Order: sequence, then structure tokens, then C-alpha cells
Amino acid sequence: MGFPSLRLRRLRGSEAMRRLVRETRIHVDDFVLPLFVSDLVDSPEPISSMPGVSNLPISAIAERAREIRKLEIPAVLLFGTPKSKDATGSASLKDDGIVQRAVREIKSAVPELLVITDVCLCEYTDHGHCGIVKGETVDNDATIEILARQAISHAEAGADMVAPSDMMDGRVKVIREALDDTGHEQTAIMAYSAKFCSAFYGPFREAVDSAPQFGDRQSYQMDPANGREALREIESDIEEGADIVMVKPALAYLDIISRARAEFDIPIAAYNVSGEFSMTKLAAQNKLADERRMVLEIMTAIKRSGSDIIITYHAEDIARWLTT
Ligand code: PBG
Repeated sequence: MGFPSLRLRRLRGSEAMRRLVRETRIHVDDFVLPLFVSDLVDSPEPISSMPGVSNLPISAIAERAREIRKLEIPAVLLFGTPKSKDATGSASLKDDGIVQRAVREIKSAVPELLVITDVCLCEYTDHGHCGIVKGETVDNDATIEILARQAISHAEAGADMVAPSDMMDGRVKVIREALDDTGHEQTAIMAYSAKFCSAFYGPFREAVDSAPQFGDRQSYQMDPANGREALREIESDIEEGADIVMVKPALAYLDIISRARAEFDIPIAAYNVSGEFSMTKLAAQNKLADERRMVLEIMTAIKRSGSDIIITYHAEDIARWLTT
């Protein structure tokens, strides 16, 4: 059947008709808001590379958690900047470390807000790499032992879920075993499984001052050219015990999300990273396009590609837009 009987525009004629045939919906329940907590600031300090996002002191975190809860966003993802950094990222293991204190603050102020913690070393090392450096390389097996201790420390502070973002081999297995051995079998793992070596992390590295001081992350983060390898990463994280897998960044990797969706039944998260966020913000600020429409279109596309969960710095705006 072709034209003139086939008229696909019939289903686009009114808002009611469009609502009825809409295939993809986004809902506030889909979103996770990343938060930056810092031991270097006394009051919220705007991050210049990320318009509208601030580094928060511990004293501001409970109030922020209440605002987020009011918007009905189900979860936050915490990143911390310690007072001082060293070669092994030792500040990441302290019971009174920045993230550990932030978790406790949030859980006592708003217990129902899900708290996810980023598990990595790059925010805590003076060289800015995501692991222990031996010579010019990042030592995989030494790193995952420290990450496991970091995960335990976050769980003890009350984190509901830990999210390893380092891309070392075997870390999900070691973290799962470490959590189980210490009575945290209910603490979930969201693995940054297919994390690509991306230019889109630029604004984030300014926020937490984590740019590598030598070399780059190509020996552990994935080559943006590789799709099949991403599926192997995801498969191995599932086997090692991940509860949720992640693809990161989101926009340039929608094909990876849809291939993962077709292949695996586990929940998939997509991380709409700092560079994607700032790109949209700057375009809107320069009046190149409408912010609300751009952001909602991007989120719909990420969802349509097959992700269940979207981690984005736009989450609060989205929550407001979806209810007005
Ligand atoms: C590493 C980590 C990074 C991001 C999340 N976790 C940075 C990196 O790998 O360099 C980037 C997030 C973003 O750009 O929004 N701990």
C-alpha cells in the first residue's frame, strides 16, 4: 500500500494523536543526578566548565539532598574532592573521607534518596590516573585491591550502590567478593562497563582536578572505535557480578546501548557526561537553540536507544520540565 492511501501524517495531526502513538517516554524515575562534594570549599563554588553546577561543601549537602528529593529524583551519584591527594589515593579510604561523610549526611537527612558512589582513584591521586602507577603504567591488580577497600568504606558509610569507573580488569569480581565478605551483600554494583576514552570528560576533570599529569587513559579506557569489544566488557562485568551495567558517554555511543539492549537483560545505564552537558548549556546560553527542547530530545534519544537509567547533570531541570 502506497500513497495516496498510506498517509503516515494521519497519526501526527493533533497532540492527542501524537501522545497516543508515542513510543518512548521519559519519566523522573529514569534519572540519576551526579553531585560534587569537596573538602576544598566552604560554600558552594560554581564549576566554571559546567554552567549551573557547583562543588559543594559537606555543610550544604543535606539541604541539596532535600531539594533533590522534593523533585522526586530517585538517586544521586557522588564524586568527591579530598583536601590533599597522594600517589595511592589514600584519602579515598578514610572513614571520615569526603564521600564517606557526604553519604552519611544524605542518608541521615533523606534516607529514601538512593546514594550511589563513584569508586575510582583519579579524584584522589596526585598524578590523576585511575589507579596505582608503576613506572609509566597503571598496575591493574594493585589498583583493584584498593578499589575493593574503597567500596567497603562507602558501603560502611551507608552507600546503597557503588559504581566503579576505573576500567581495571577484574574489579567487579573483587569488589563483589569484598562487599559480601564484610556483610554488605545488599550493596549493589553499577559497573562503568563500556567506558570510552573520551574528550567529553573535559569539563568534569576541571571540576575535580583529575586530569592525568602524564600520558592519558588509553591503556585502560576503551577505544571509541570499538563496538564489539564494548559488548565483551559488558558481558564480563555481568559475569563478575554487576547488577547494572553502564555505557559512557551516551550520545556518541547510542549504537553500543542498543546493541547491549538487544543482547542482555540486565538494567543498562547511560551516562550523559560533562562534555555533553556543557555543549548543550553553552549552545543554549548563546541562543543557538532552545535548551528545554534540546535536552528533552537528547534524553528521549538515549532512552529510545535502550537504556533504563540516565545519569545527567540536567536531571533537576528535567524533573521540573516534566511536571510543568
Ligand atoms: C573517573 C570518572 C570520570 C567521569 C566519571 N568518573 C572522568 C574520567 O574518566 O576522566 C566523567 C564524568 C563526566 O565527564 O561527566 N572517576
